[in-house]
Amino acid sequence: MSNSFSKKHLLSVDDLTKESVSLILQEAAAMQELVLTKGSSDALKGKIVAAIFYEPSTRTFTSFITAAQRLGAGFIPMQGMHASSVAKGETLEDTIRTVGCSADLIVLRHPEIGSVAKAAEYSYVPLINAGDGTDEHPTQALLDVYTIQKHFASLENTTVGMVGDMLNGRTVHSLSKLLATLGVKKFIWIAPEKLKMPQEIYDMVARNGANIVQAEDLASVIQDLDVLYVTRVQKERFTDQKMYEDLKHKYIITPEIMKQAKKEMILLHPLPRVGEIDIAVDLDPRAVYMKEQMQNGVYIRMALLKLILS
Ligand code: NCD
Repeated sequence: MSNSFSKKHLLSVDDLTKESVSLILQEAAAMQELVLTKGSSDALKGKIVAAIFYEPSTRTFTSFITAAQRLGAGFIPMQGMHASSVAKGETLEDTIRTVGCSADLIVLRHPEIGSVAKAAEYSYVPLINAGDGTDEHPTQALLDVYTIQKHFASLENTTVGMVGDMLNGRTVHSLSKLLATLGVKKFIWIAPEKLKMPQEIYDMVARNGANIVQAEDLASVIQDLDVLYVTRVQKERFTDQKMYEDLKHKYIITPEIMKQAKKEMILLHPLPRVGEIDIAVDLDPRAVYMKEQMQNGVYIRMALLKLILS
């Protein structure tokens, strides 16, 4: 399969096809094998990866650092932009050009929708979108797909539930679109009326032929799900903090509600969790968020760095 990612930006799941995703998943499986057998390689020796994060991150940031280093690349970590020239008023445009004079690839997270695509217009090197505001988080969607397809041979026949903040959660936006591209035919989005999935995501998923149910009550649909993807209500996107307080714990996954779910259902969360999943659920074998899903993030990011930088 030819590598369509070489020297290209990864900005949105809209640019991915079934074939190109299959190449990433195949490469990620090879990366998993590499990590589990040898630990590392020098495939990217001499390359430099920069990560510029204007928003907080634990998993995405550390897994990109790990991914680069396991492949022998050097790393420029820029997190907490108050310590950079941004604090002196430097624009995103100038920062991206500056870092592109040192690094071969930039991973960028920024609070504004469309900011990564805009930065790509003047970047000297390929950019990976690590989250642009409430819009997209393509590498998270890829690691979620990698996790799901390890458990279900046929994505077409899985019923995927998502619960929480469908409006502001960039992970569920990217994941819904990507799963629709890959042929998932049934989505159940569970959210309060005020946090419903944006219309453009609904329209894209529907255009791909999927059946969409929007519900407010988790208990009445959980037994139908093969996958349940839980999200945090995105506090930082609310102007009305009272509204956030009212909505933040509308859904809490407990051992009791897990009793109503299928034995083979898997439970995912991009994390961080802030009370949406009771810690007692961590012991449930269906809970894959605390280890497997995060480890897969390293393999997917290794695969992407390798495909883009080779
Ligand atoms: C997510 C994000 O940043 O969008 N976190 C992550 O990258 N794993 C989810 C979130 O912050 O709720």
